[in-house]
Amino acid sequence: MTKAMEILNGLTLEEKASLTSGKDCWRTVDIEGKLASIMMSDGPHGLRKEENGSTVPATCFPSSATIANSWDEDLIYRIGEALGEECLANDVQVILGPGVNIKRSPLCGRNFEYFSEDPLLATRMASSHIRGVQSKGVGACIKHFAANNQETDRFSVNAVIDERTLREIYLSSFEEAVKVAKPWMIMSAYNKLNGDYCSENKYLLTDILRDEWGYEGVVVSDWGAANEPVDGVKAGLDIRMPGPVPSANNAIVEAVKSGELSMEELDKNVLRIIEIVEKGIASKIADYKADMSAHNELAMKAAEESAVLLKNNKSVLPLAKTDKIALIGAFAEEIRYQGGGSSCVNATEISDLLKAFDDKNIDYTYAKGFRTEDDSINDDLTAEALAVADKADKIVMCIGLPFRMESEGFDRWTMSLPSNQIELFNKLSALKKPIVIVLFQGSPVEMEWSKNADSILAMYTGGQAVAKACVNLLFGDANPSGKLSETWALKLENNPTALSFPEKGTATYSEGVYVGYRYYDKKKLNVMYPFGYGLSYTTFEYSDLKLSAIDISESDTLEVSFEVKNTGSVAGKEVCELYVEPTYPSVSRPVKELKGFKKIYLEPGEEKTVTITLNKRSFAYYDVESHDWQVDTTVYNILVGSSSRNLPLTASVKVNSSRTSKTFFTTDSRVYELNANPIAKEALSKLLTEDLKLDITALSIDLPLSKLVGFSGGILSVDMLDRFVASLNEKIK
Ligand code: BGC
Repeated sequence: MTKAMEILNGLTLEEKASLTSGKDCWRTVDIEGKLASIMMSDGPHGLRKEENGSTVPATCFPSSATIANSWDEDLIYRIGEALGEECLANDVQVILGPGVNIKRSPLCGRNFEYFSEDPLLATRMASSHIRGVQSKGVGACIKHFAANNQETDRFSVNAVIDERTLREIYLSSFEEAVKVAKPWMIMSAYNKLNGDYCSENKYLLTDILRDEWGYEGVVVSDWGAANEPVDGVKAGLDIRMPGPVPSANNAIVEAVKSGELSMEELDKNVLRIIEIVEKGIASKIADYKADMSAHNELAMKAAEESAVLLKNNKSVLPLAKTDKIALIGAFAEEIRYQGGGSSCVNATEISDLLKAFDDKNIDYTYAKGFRTEDDSINDDLTAEALAVADKADKIVMCIGLPFRMESEGFDRWTMSLPSNQIELFNKLSALKKPIVIVLFQGSPVEMEWSKNADSILAMYTGGQAVAKACVNLLFGDANPSGKLSETWALKLENNPTALSFPEKGTATYSEGVYVGYRYYDKKKLNVMYPFGYGLSYTTFEYSDLKLSAIDISESDTLEVSFEVKNTGSVAGKEVCELYVEPTYPSVSRPVKELKGFKKIYLEPGEEKTVTITLNKRSFAYYDVESHDWQVDTTVYNILVGSSSRNLPLTASVKVNSSRTSKTFFTTDSRVYELNANPIAKEALSKLLTEDLKLDITALSIDLPLSKLVGFSGGILSVDMLDRFVASLNEKIK
């Protein structure tokens, strides 16, 4: 018998029930002489441990939206390790992150905390994050399961999502991370999904998570997300947080006594809690010291790797250290390095751009230019900025989304930057000097006004060392290599959710699988900056795409290889992206979807072979009839390149489906559906021409079989049709 089983057997009903809610805001319940308690703390991009009314100092790494732009799985693994070490040093056993919710709308207030609009990129980054944390004997908690895509009405909004969209988009960002990285915990979301609260959603927490994905860890509710205690336990929720909640524990005791809840059901949940507590306790290391200066350095590297160079006309960047620079914009001193809410870390050190410029001995003059508290224009600040810019060779303008505009708890109300920043830009650009925009924000902003900017560098919410990283990038001591993990639309109105987001009460995901680039591609819309886009100070050339086969069965893997060469004069990193485009799909599908990526480092002139392996899932869609992933037998184009809208290499592979489950017909089946199956087509044709003497024209291909009864002039009865369908199904068995 395992130790956990022994502990379970030694617990009374009341003790078992007490474990299903927290001991306090952050800890699990301990039972004297039987079980210790473990501590959870936020996450995701730094440790936020509350202690004595404040938050312990910890390294604030770039937030998930930022780090996703690095597309660097090894880098986020190392951040995970560092997070794990800081947890060990602070006696925290589980860190609440990463968050993998999909960016359905650019306005979601918490987008800075999530990775991407694309589930593959999100789940890969999450897997590495989780593996890194857990390699240190600390648990990660993937969140918020599931479909928590808006902050408005987040405690009760009902996300209404069709099955295919749920599987392909909103669950996919969790799926691989849960299966491969096996997080110790998963956090159930506040909202409802298709009518049931996620924290009491058996379909989500048991049928999919445990029975299908094989998850063996603990499900914890988001803080305050749990409702009916017995329903929660039955659905698969293990711990409701925060605690204690004596009334919930009593309800569970009463339910077991009355037979509403079986002891076996409760035991399953309690055993999982005991196992995680034992694991957490076994991994504690007394007096552990984390190397905080190494972590600060890692945070800086991560910020460098994640910044995205959006524009660089006339190679204005990198700047020369001898340039006389006007550093303009309040964001240079009020550095925006993380978002608001439960993820807000008490950073160990923070520097602003002024200090980072000083540290590099740059000749610059600073002017604040605008206020961040509101959008109002301050004439004195404007005049000062123009005077400073007038005397400089080049202008570096630091703008972005102030803290007040991006946080957990509310959604953004606009995709534009505060108007006072844009106004100032227009005045500065009228001076006709080289002008570089540095952006600090956690999500995309409308940028059509920026035509006169020569260069744009998006730092996103880059963590505590973002200032140094930014200066390294501006002056060429580091080469930008980030690529956007989300599309920057030209304007909010182009986003498929623009008419309704955010909805209260019920949020209907009517755009289906067409989220992010899947939508803009399908609609052939121009975008400001596409998904996967980002420039470098060097150039890369792609060539020689090879496939390991051109005709495969869906159970085979396919090796895709190609060459990438650094054709510029400085070393750099390139994110190579692979998309799959199905031809003639049997259901409506996105034009193409990301199915693989790799980030590589190349010296000038160096060339490397990149290999990416595809499998069945790379070609499949979620089929709602078989409730499974299915592949169409058809040709798929393999597209490779540097962004979702720059894919110079293409090749094709035919994939043969080995789908064994037959489609069975009913009286509701349509004529065209029968015509798609040779056996059914023959049987129907015989029925129509020989028995019913009916001529079914192209106009009637949508006709349900049941309607034939009415059109047959009394020849075909309901019984006869039933017999026809039954015998047809026999034949195709
Ligand atoms: C957030 C979670 C967080 C929890 C604990 C909730 O409001 O949604 O992400 O982990 O609080 O702070």
